[in-house]
Amino acid sequence: MFNAIILTAYPEMFPGNLSYSLIGKALKEQKFNLETIDLRNFGVDQRNSIDDEPFGGGPGMILRPDVVEKAVLSIKIDPQKNTERIYLTPAGKLANQAKLGNFSKLDNLIILCGRFEGVDQRAIDVLNFEEISIGDYVLAGGEIAAQVLLEGCIRLIPGVLGQPESLLEESFSNNLLEYPQYTRPKVWEDTKKVLHEVPEVLTSGNHEKIKEWRYKESIKKTKVKRPDLYIKKEQDK
Ligand code: ADE
Repeated sequence: MFNAIILTAYPEMFPGNLSYSLIGKALKEQKFNLETIDLRNFGVDQRNSIDDEPFGGGPGMILRPDVVEKAVLSIKIDPQKNTERIYLTPAGKLANQAKLGNFSKLDNLIILCGRFEGVDQRAIDVLNFEEISIGDYVLAGGEIAAQVLLEGCIRLIPGVLGQPESLLEESFSNNLLEYPQYTRPKVWEDTKKVLHEVPEVLTSGNHEKIKEWRYKESIKKTKVKRPDLYIKKEQDK
């Protein structure tokens, strides 16, 4: 079973978003496990510090390597199991759907959440944390990033989503964005009295035509919104 172990100075932030909707249901039904480890339990000196000023000067505080090591060593897991350690940082490698797919197949994913200005690089290197970012923007800490990443992973675990086939056509499978979707009413009159119809093919009942239309729309959308993905798709051919 997928087991997420989160090293954080704010364990009370979890499960947070992960306790809602289908993911929350899966957590309750123990389709995955979530565990937090409070970094403050491993503080040093009389003040129980977990961070200190950066050598060389600069703003903010850095998480101490000895604190991180003690927290990691407190984790009791079977060494035979598939385990990875990641540190969430905007300076990491960008996560993507394929990466989340790989994480979702692990037995244990250990996630170190940074706060302050960062984590002592020695801890990251010596303890083999892979540095991962969820996007090219800076958050105040890794806790929300961990929830984003875990939500993306956990929905890929078999049995978590109601309709597993929905995974096959969603955005980023085959380096394409998902086609536009529509529901009732078939003709929507907005508050300015303008009528908006659903593309006719979708109500035709012709499944071949619908499939074809959706594929074309996916291509169109990807070309405009994510030309980088479209190039990748062409290269993968
Ligand atoms: N911590 C702060 N910003 C982050 C980001 N963009 N990705 C992952 N962790 C972060």
